[in-house]
Amino acid sequence: MAKLIIEGGRALKGQITVQGAKNAALPILAAAMLIPEPVRIGNCPRLTDVEHMAGLLRALGCRADWTGDGLVVDAGCARTAALPEDLAGSIRSSVFLLGPLLGRFGAAEAPYPGGCDIGNRPVDLHLKGLRAMGVKVDEASGRIRCLGRPRGTEIALEYPSVGATENLLMAACGAEGDTILVNPAREPEIDDLMAFLNGAGFDLRREGSSRIRVRGGRRGHGTAHAILPDRIEAGTYLVAAAITGGHLVLRGARKEHLSALLTALKEAGCRIRSEGTDLDIEGPERPRELRRLVTLPYPGFPTDMQSQVFALCTVARGTSVLEENVFEDRFRHGAELVRMGADCFIRGRSAVIRGVKSLHGATVTARDLRGGAALALAGLRAEGITVVEQAERIDRGYVDFAATLRQAGAAIRREDD
Ligand code: EPZ
Repeated sequence: MAKLIIEGGRALKGQITVQGAKNAALPILAAAMLIPEPVRIGNCPRLTDVEHMAGLLRALGCRADWTGDGLVVDAGCARTAALPEDLAGSIRSSVFLLGPLLGRFGAAEAPYPGGCDIGNRPVDLHLKGLRAMGVKVDEASGRIRCLGRPRGTEIALEYPSVGATENLLMAACGAEGDTILVNPAREPEIDDLMAFLNGAGFDLRREGSSRIRVRGGRRGHGTAHAILPDRIEAGTYLVAAAITGGHLVLRGARKEHLSALLTALKEAGCRIRSEGTDLDIEGPERPRELRRLVTLPYPGFPTDMQSQVFALCTVARGTSVLEENVFEDRFRHGAELVRMGADCFIRGRSAVIRGVKSLHGATVTARDLRGGAALALAGLRAEGITVVEQAERIDRGYVDFAATLRQAGAAIRREDD
């Protein structure tokens, strides 16, 4: 178990270099299974979820070795299509392997990915799409068993699910015939996955904002790809500057992937300038409230930034209303923030947050990855000492989270027991 001990009240100052995106690295690592030759995945963040995914690839017979800033994966020697229970059950993104395994071997088996702390996280859209491609999918006994090479077809997604889009694109790469995906997700991580697959000899292209065409019947070849910067990590540190009234320069942040968040932070009173791939942010002495913020699929406001902005709103001048439309249980950080003196209540999908002049330190628990990061951000502002328990959850999405904040002036340390 890990905990973060934070003494609040310091304005952050300095520069932070943005890591590679977790939510691009995970599907791209899974996609390597489609390619029977070595691929180099650079700018790959060394996160626990990424290490788990590399472990899954090794369990399937692949080589996956860290070299420099990335992983070299060789799926040429992959020999099985059944994911081991112990490893696959531990991360949701193991379900991303169904598509590439089917595209490569015409068979795939995985444990049913459990829900997590932000909702029950079904995979019905993934499986419905695979069935539409002619794959036989059996869900008995808590495992997902798929059989049959995917056939190209037109699939309309009822909801622009990120994971379902990625899984079906990867299955389509190994399908006989072309596939059209209608109403696909538009997150930048999807385009990074497509760039990786196109670099490996497949042919995927967006046709407007609501269709992606995948040419079938191609065989992948070796390639090298650098993961795009992590917009959620960058956004989290932007909020760290905002909540402490500090001044940070985020190196490598792509402002075009952050526009909804930047709009909200400017409404909160932050001064933000961009120079090339750097974002320069100065936080206000006390943030203004966000009268209404709604999370939506990209390019709407990202659900993965909701808890961090929730923390910012707890010390705003007025009352903010946040609406969480993507996951059904993503306000668990609210109760923890109340322990720090926040004044907020949850009604269904909305949180009403009346800003208070100051928070006070407390011992709180990270209930999920982004909620844990949000509690640490609140601790940077709070008077006194905050202890964030179960901080290992934060390691799933941030490399060296405490060290990164400390080098920007935060009084924060980590204890592992
Ligand atoms: C991806 O999860 C991300 N994870 C999440 O990031 C992110 O919050 C989410 O996309 C939305 O942007 C990775 O990329 C590894 P969805 P995913 O399928 O693919 C429902 C983080 O903190 N749904 O777009 O699971 C689902 O229940 C994590 O980095 C179905 O009903 O997201 C949810 O309510 C958290 N049936 C909504 O759609 C399905 O078959 C969005 O899910 C699939 C999804």
